Amino acid sequence: MSDKKGYKFNTRVIHACQSPEDWQGATIAPIFQTASHVHRTAENLSETFAGRKDDHIYMRLTNPTNRVLEEKLADLEGGLGAIVMSSGMAAISNASMALLRAGDEFVAGNSLFMSTYLLFTRVFKKYGITVRMVESTDIGAIERAINEKTRFVYLETIGNPKMDIPDLERVAAAAHSHGIPLLVDNTLASPYLCRPFEVGADIVIHSTTKYLSGHGSAAGGAVIDSGNFEWNRDRFPDFAPFVERKGALAYIDKVWREHHINFGTTQAPFHSYLTMIGMDTLALRMERHMENTMKVAQFLRERPEVKWINYAGLKDHPSHETAKKLFGDKGFGGLLAFGLKDQGACFSFIDRLRMIYHLANLGDCKTLVIHPCSSQYVSFDDATRDELSITPDLIRLSVGIEDIEDICADLGQALDGLA
Ligand SMILES: Cc1ncc(COP(=O)(O)O)c(C=O)c1O
Repeated sequence: MSDKKGYKFNTRVIHACQSPEDWQGATIAPIFQTASHVHRTAENLSETFAGRKDDHIYMRLTNPTNRVLEEKLADLEGGLGAIVMSSGMAAISNASMALLRAGDEFVAGNSLFMSTYLLFTRVFKKYGITVRMVESTDIGAIERAINEKTRFVYLETIGNPKMDIPDLERVAAAAHSHGIPLLVDNTLASPYLCRPFEVGADIVIHSTTKYLSGHGSAAGGAVIDSGNFEWNRDRFPDFAPFVERKGALAYIDKVWREHHINFGTTQAPFHSYLTMIGMDTLALRMERHMENTMKVAQFLRERPEVKWINYAGLKDHPSHETAKKLFGDKGFGGLLAFGLKDQGACFSFIDRLRMIYHLANLGDCKTLVIHPCSSQYVSFDDATRDELSITPDLIRLSVGIEDIEDICADLGQALDGLA
């Protein structure tokens, strides 16, 4: 995919939406650390509040540094508009709530990030909203779950930590045949590996905290609108004023006007700045993440202590062919899961690691490990853990960009002697 200037993706990651001439020659957008913006005339402020002028008013609404990141993300995903927010969960909450009213339903794949699962099943339930969860890769089940109350289908490009990869193109076609949009959390793939709009998805969500930043120093999220979905009046009567106001940008306007600014899910401009610093190296990092992850999968496969490996890069993985269809020959992502004998073995393994960080994050340039069952999912009941494939023997590894020999050496010495 190239832009109007003919630049391809890896160039655009660095050069898209750069405007040093507006930044006194700086090569990165400055941090506009101001809560509010001065308006010289009463009319200008009035016109801006009315949406007829595109100036900045107040940090909770918009911010010039955030705006640059929004434009870059829209460009990289091939979307029409974007909003950056304080976290991935802020983006997921706002993206879905803008579509939902009490009594509505939606369909979601059942391999969801932990907080997304809780939001959908516990929090939305309080407001009379029903999520129907099905296997992410079962298109028939997705279609059967759609009824006249369904407002959208929600999937993750690569399930976390289930590692299943839905055929987004077929799901988008199925959703559209019922007049509803497809929302995709593209965090684990990043726009380097997958651009869901190119296969028909309508809305893309990111936790920028992960691969987009790559340094684990800035939380953030983004909602990106393809601008392609037609908000028909029968199923989406509440969209009419937004379509009238903003046309193809109706959805992102609704997310912003109804939810983002009222819930106050503002992104700190400093975090946008840090995210943009990280994004410059997205393409290179993703290449190395995925090369290393494949090598780690092969290394772990040879180890007798490792009972199973879940990584779509392995030819016998159920999502291998779908991954190739979706990702081409770029790779299969930087996250994998593997199984040891039991929870005790997982704890011993983690405690023995010397270089690899044990923490709750992923997509950092450093290799990270976690035992999800006893950490993020510790308060879940067994049935829910089973549904999400969170077993006591599962280790999740976010493979970093260090020298592969050092990653494997650390894994190897921590595995040595385990049953
Ligand atoms: C796939 C996915 N989506 C969303 C999130 C939430 O992002 P954040 O922690 O930035 O709110 C995470 C966090 O790990 C994630 O893995």
